[in-house]
Amino acid sequence: MKKYIGSLFLLGASLITMSAMAAEITVYKSPTCGCCKKWVSHLRDNGFTVVAHDVQSVVPYKIKNGVTQELASCHTATVNGYTIEGHVPASDIKRLLKEKPKITGLAVPGMPMGSPGMEGNRKDAYNVVSFDADGNLKVFSSY
Ligand code: CU
Ligand code: CU
Repeated sequence: MKKYIGSLFLLGASLITMSAMAAEITVYKSPTCGCCKKWVSHLRDNGFTVVAHDVQSVVPYKIKNGVTQELASCHTATVNGYTIEGHVPASDIKRLLKEKPKITGLAVPGMPMGSPGMEGNRKDAYNVVSFDADGNLKVFSSY
């Protein structure tokens, strides 16, 4: 019993430290997706705690989290009640968590070359788009 209470205390303490340090982000991705793995590394490199789940199909997670076909990319993630779709840069997620706008989340539709996790020999221009349940889309940032 004493041991049990001790571990509960430790769990509580680590949860408090975690929320003070960085947000925890949950990622749903295909086990074979290489760019998804690289995006997860990009988040970790930028201080996020990432819980990654390999799933057979990401589609149900997209539907559940308000991601329409036009916004869709490879992986779908959630953080503090927001949806993050595709190769959204960590800096935009940090801005989102700070500004807390009333939106469903952020998306980088498709998989633009040059976005985090999609590094290669080319850098394409792309937008990070904010979206909500009513279908309103807004440019959150441009690269
Ligand atoms: Cu990808
Ligand atoms: Cu991905």
